[in-house]
Order: sequence, then structure tokens, then C-alpha cells
Amino acid sequence: MSHNTIALNQQRQPLHHLESVWLFGYGSLIYKADFPFLQCKPACIYGWQRRFWQGSHDHRGTPEAPGRVLTLVEAPGARCAGMAYQVTPDTFEHLDHREKNGYLRVFTDLHWLEEPGQSEGLVYLASADNEAYLGPDTDAAIAAHIAQSAGPSGPNSEYVLKLAQALRDMNEADEHVFAIEQALLERLPANDTVKLTPGC
Ligand code: SIN
Repeated sequence: MSHNTIALNQQRQPLHHLESVWLFGYGSLIYKADFPFLQCKPACIYGWQRRFWQGSHDHRGTPEAPGRVLTLVEAPGARCAGMAYQVTPDTFEHLDHREKNGYLRVFTDLHWLEEPGQSEGLVYLASADNEAYLGPDTDAAIAAHIAQSAGPSGPNSEYVLKLAQALRDMNEADEHVFAIEQALLERLPANDTVKLTPGC
């Protein structure tokens, strides 16, 4: 599968017949909501875990030197917390462009964290068959890769540090994210701070 998924997402999953759609963000979509939304609330999905296994050609790296960003990997029994946004279907023009580097939209069940109930929602997944996929590596190797990568959206390290902080702000823990953050902090200059802008 080509790493540019804009046309594929629009062909396989037209959304214009819907009044609104829930979108679940588990990575940069938690801390960077650069799109209009009707409401947002913390949510989780089951059976998936975050992994820094996707290459980034367009945000945190370049085609010549891709960065490493998150995708979700199936893991029975796992729980992944994030932020859900209710958006109108036209918002997916922006979202599909933002998430074009290998991500396909998939419907799954979202469970609210702060109230009972659930809803179906979309999540952007980058599976192993996309051309930008990098796959697993050790925490140290992933952190080393991230420490030296940057792209049009900024340093790759910022992606990790902002996400880890956003998860802590939600009182959520993620072993993989926090392990990469720790390994990264050991490599970054002490004054490499991150300015946080809440997404929701
Ligand atoms: C997401 O945040 O839900 C998708 C991955 C990313 O853009 O970081």
C-alpha cells in the first residue's frame, strides 16, 4: 500500500451521509487539535496498544530521513486511552491530509472515561503493509532515532514529550510511551524543553 492514503480513505469510506462522526486520537491528535470540533471528551479503546513503529515522512521527518511516530498494534486485553472529538464529516478533508502518511481510517468502539457509555468512532491506523511502516526496535534504538529526527512539524522528540505530558495530564500511563520518553530524555540536552498547548 502506498504511504499516501488520502484517496484510499476517501474512496473506501465516504462519510458525507453522516451528520457528525467521533474521531479517536491516541497520538498527536491528543495534544494538537488543529481542526474544529463540536465537543471532545477523554475515551479509550480496547484491544490496541500504542507503538512508535510508523515512519513519518511529512511531519516529524522527511522522505529521505523519516521520523518515528505512533501507530496502534493489536493486543488482546490492552487498553489505549486518548481523546475523542465529535466532528462534522467535512473535517476529514483536513484530517485525511494530516494523517496521509500511511494511516487508514477504521471504525471501532470508543468508551468514555468520565461518564458511562460508548459510541462508534474512527481511528487512524498505520498497518504493517504501508510503505512508511518501520516496525519494532528496542527502546534505545527508537529513542536514538527520534532524538536525531525532525520534519516540517518540528523535532521528533517534541512529538514524544508532548504526548507523554498530555497522557500525564489525563492521569493516564502508557508503559511504551513513558519508556521511550525516558530513553529520549537521557539523550536530549537538559534545556530542550517543550511548550505545551492543550488539545481539548
Ligand atoms: C493519532 O494521533 O490518533 C494518530 C497518530 C498521530 O497523528 O500521531
